[in-house]
Amino acid sequence: MYPLPVSLLLLILSFSFRVSCLSLSNCNITEVTLIRNTELLTSLTLSNCTLPHLENAFFVRFDHLLQLELQHSGLSNLDDFALNGLIRLQSLSLGHNNLSVLRSWSSEPLGALSILDLSHNRLSKLRSKIFGLYPQLQQLDLQNNQINQIEEDSFYGLSHLKHLHLNGNQLQHLDGSFFRGLHRLSSLSLQHNRIDSIEMESFEGNTHLRSLRLDQNLLSSLQFLSQRGLARLVHLNLSNNLVQKLEPLGLSKNFELQNLDLSFNNLTKLSKETLSGLDSLERLNISHNYVDEMETESLESLVALLQIDVSLNRLTTLPETLFHANTQLEEIILANNQIVKLSPQIFHKQNHLRYMKLNGNALDDAKFLHRLSPSLNSLSLYVDLSSNRLSSVNLSSLLRFRYLNLADNNWNCAWLVANLVRKLPNSVNFARPWSVINDWSENITNIDGVDCSEGESNRSIILLDVSAVPLQKTDNCECGQTYDDSNPSPPPLTWPKIPTDRFDSRSVIIWMLAAIAIAFAGLRWLRRFVDRNEKRKLGKKELNNVYVSKVQWQPVRNELERS
Ligand SMILES: *[C@@H]1O[C@H](CO)[C@@H](O)[C@H](O)[C@H]1NC(C)=O
Ligand SMILES: *[C@@H]1O[C@H](CO)[C@@H](O)[C@H](O)[C@H]1NC(C)=O
Ligand SMILES: *[C@@H]1O[C@H](CO)[C@@H](O)[C@H](O)[C@H]1NC(C)=O
Ligand SMILES: *[C@@H]1O[C@H](CO)[C@@H](O)[C@H](O)[C@H]1NC(C)=O
Ligand SMILES: *[C@@H]1O[C@H](CO)[C@@H](O)[C@H](O)[C@H]1NC(C)=O
Repeated sequence: MYPLPVSLLLLILSFSFRVSCLSLSNCNITEVTLIRNTELLTSLTLSNCTLPHLENAFFVRFDHLLQLELQHSGLSNLDDFALNGLIRLQSLSLGHNNLSVLRSWSSEPLGALSILDLSHNRLSKLRSKIFGLYPQLQQLDLQNNQINQIEEDSFYGLSHLKHLHLNGNQLQHLDGSFFRGLHRLSSLSLQHNRIDSIEMESFEGNTHLRSLRLDQNLLSSLQFLSQRGLARLVHLNLSNNLVQKLEPLGLSKNFELQNLDLSFNNLTKLSKETLSGLDSLERLNISHNYVDEMETESLESLVALLQIDVSLNRLTTLPETLFHANTQLEEIILANNQIVKLSPQIFHKQNHLRYMKLNGNALDDAKFLHRLSPSLNSLSLYVDLSSNRLSSVNLSSLLRFRYLNLADNNWNCAWLVANLVRKLPNSVNFARPWSVINDWSENITNIDGVDCSEGESNRSIILLDVSAVPLQKTDNCECGQTYDDSNPSPPPLTWPKIPTDRFDSRSVIIWMLAAIAIAFAGLRWLRRFVDRNEKRKLGKKELNNVYVSKVQWQPVRNELERS
């Protein structure tokens, strides 16, 4: 008879009158036809079965079903009326099968169906009025098929449709008629197609559209955005296209837009009127473009802006008043451009700033950090200035930031040593990680270090964790000037104690390095001495033992030799 699990299920079905959900996997058509008491079932899930072909009226016995899932089952042929009788069905999924032709599969309307999933099949064409028998559909998923043709009125009659997924297909051109009649459509996913042109009337009737995804296509013109249908758009993703230019006032009709993603395009310039009208915009992403100029008034109308990302462009300078209208800004990301100088006043109007990324530029001063708005809460401000060309900064007012990253700059050695010798709060970071191979143990040691330059020569400083050093001699330290009044009692470095009038603080570090080197050399010599002694004691015969002890010292090489 049937294999054990199925027999068990059937048994349960026959005795329990309250069972309403049935889930079968690895089944075949015989097993499905043998399901009994189908009038009790409200939910049927068939997955990983072998069901290549279903004939007419196959589900007629299951007329109480509200939910039917038939996935991953190699379904490639569904007879014209295979879904007949499923009059109460609300949710149908035929995803991850092998369907290449879309039909209604019913002779009467499936009047209750609100969710239809046909994703991950091999559909290539949507015929006219093909969904006419599904009048209540609210969600239609056609993603990851091979659709390259949509006939006029394909979505005819779907006046309740809210979500339409057409991403991952092969669409090239959006016709003015495709989405006609979808009056309630609120989200439309068209990403990951090959769309290079969109007719002006394409979204004319879709006045409820709130979210439009067009990322990963081949769009170079955004003219379609000025049509009436897109006036209520909130989320617009145009990332990964080929847009080179934003027309003046091109976005001025999309005044409810909150989220605009233009990353990974070919933009070169933001000028005065390109973003005007977007007075609800909260998040703007223009990263990964070729922008080398942002005009003074280019962000002027974005009064609600919370977050701007212009990283990975080619900016060298920014106008002093660029951000002056954007008083709500919380995040400014300008990383990885070629910015040489920022006006001290540039962030003067930002009272809510929490996150500022300026790493990977060519800044040689940080004066703008001393002129932040007086009402800004600097305790919650994160600033990344790593990988710039700073040689010194006035640290005193920067120590209260939540985090300040200063790693990988062009520090002046004298300035650096003078500031590093005293303990800085953990929120200030100068170090970048170094991996050092020392030939003594052949292990890789991870240490923190800072590079600095002195005249023409470059130096490197290893940072030791000062907090690990016992602080016995704090009382008679002659460290001179106090470091920062606002930062009470920074514990001074007291090891080793060297009179500061005879040695400057740089030599402290150099002495420490020398001491470490001597200690390493000493240990090494000691090891060799012990080895040699043992060799002499054991004589020629037991040379192998010496080798073994060496192997214990060099676990890495040993592993390699064995394999
Ligand atoms: C379905 O599977 C059962 C056992 O798993 C087997 O006995 C039966 O022959 C199969 N039927 C078909 C049509 O393959
Ligand atoms: C069905 O098969 C897929 C892979 O072929 C697997 O990931 C999934 O877990 C299976 N599902 C069931 C219910 O067996
Ligand atoms: C899908 O259907 C085609 C014929 O339409 C067939 O050649 C192919 O083997 C089927 N693939 C699977 C996975 O069933
Ligand atoms: C836009 O789409 C890209 C993928 O193309 C994705 O990485 C990005 O997160 C999306 N943007 C938004 C704001 O959702
Ligand atoms: C994008 O711009 C870059 C630099 O301006 C250029 O090299 C590239 O060819 C452009 N790509 C397209 C598709 O226009």
